[in-house]
Amino acid sequence: MDNSLSKMLMSLLAVFGLFVTVQSTAGRFERSINRPFGSVLRVHNGMRWGSWGLKEMCPNDMYAAGFSLKVAGLWESLLVGDNTALNGIRLHCIDTSTSSSGPYEDYATVQSDTGSWGKWTDIKWCSGGFLTSFQLKVEPYQGGWDDTAANNIRFNCSGNAETLQGSGMSWGKWGDWSEMCQGRGICGIETMVEAPQGVGDDTALNDVHLFCCD
Ligand SMILES: *[C@@H]1O[C@H](CO)[C@@H](O)[C@H](O)[C@H]1NC(C)=O
Repeated sequence: MDNSLSKMLMSLLAVFGLFVTVQSTAGRFERSINRPFGSVLRVHNGMRWGSWGLKEMCPNDMYAAGFSLKVAGLWESLLVGDNTALNGIRLHCIDTSTSSSGPYEDYATVQSDTGSWGKWTDIKWCSGGFLTSFQLKVEPYQGGWDDTAANNIRFNCSGNAETLQGSGMSWGKWGDWSEMCQGRGICGIETMVEAPQGVGDDTALNDVHLFCCD
């Protein structure tokens, strides 16, 4: 093939590839503000820097079957000179009428507050069912050293007794599991995120509440 033609084809492919990637890692951002929920899942090892963000609920009749994380990696932390580890959590919600199993292509995304650092990781999907409980990995207070607070999260799925572990960072310890959802599954999220501290020590995401719907 002529060289310039093949270059053009390559860049077209690159642009198309980028489009597909952006589409497939975010879904459509759509949320329901006032969807009623049955219970709230909490854990006890979250840290307390920051404030609770807005509650975001999956659209009506949709439940979370997957999640992705916003994570500041080692390289970024080195460049910034401050490690924040976990910065955000997205729930990817599917319709109850969906008959296939994960990974899904048609979904809505909700996320509450997120920190300013890191990149979104790939989505982890339940092979069947919905997210029903979670466990948080949190680094305790480091004294005068660099704090990171929450580092990673795990979810259990209702379908095939699966546990999904996020691609977060590894500092800290796993806490106890939350309770299991009453009702069908997780349908909303609220995160506690510390605002940027300027020259001070940033921690970004500190804690999360997950909402369950019938
Ligand atoms: C989640 O699954 C793990 C096994 O992978 C189990 O040990 C844990 O108790 C489960 N959590 C809940 C809340 O059911």
